[in-house]
Amino acid sequence: MQEIKITTTLTCYDNIEELPQHIQKLMEHAVEARKKAYAPYSKFRVGAALQLENGVVVSGSNQENAAYPSGLCAERVAIYHAGAEYPNVKIQQIAISATSDNHINKTPIPPCGACRQAIAEYEMRQDEAIEIYFMGGEGKIMKSNSLKDLLPLIFDKSYL
Ligand code: THU
Repeated sequence: MQEIKITTTLTCYDNIEELPQHIQKLMEHAVEARKKAYAPYSKFRVGAALQLENGVVVSGSNQENAAYPSGLCAERVAIYHAGAEYPNVKIQQIAISATSDNHINKTPIPPCGACRQAIAEYEMRQDEAIEIYFMGGEGKIMKSNSLKDLLPLIFDKSYL
């Protein structure tokens, strides 16, 4: 028997001004995307913005449905759009901002497990790490250098 310890390292920024300027801009895209969320059921709005290596920014917001599971998270709306429109262009960074209509979330809100799995697929496909920055509606921002830091023991094609 053996115990395996998994550790991860994240960076925490105090506010948006502390981010490198190009990431500030990307986060502003995420905030703008968040405002376009269709979230009449949860009242929880999420925006995601992807910086592609060709300079294009692809954004997405959560899209809900009266049949709840038919809705989709912001991160997957954005990454599937990028995959469909720019299949061979690498994703450099993802910025995410999320907050409730009922109160402003002030702690960083990470992508859900299903979105982590979706992002993992694209990181492995492009064989280059994707930096992920996430925040609430305001306040601190967390950064992971790679999706791998957010999802240990990733399920990938090597198991198929
Ligand atoms: N949501 C996202 O868009 N991204 C996540 O990573 C977590 C949750 C959305 C889905 C749903 O529309 C709402 O937030 C509440 O769960």
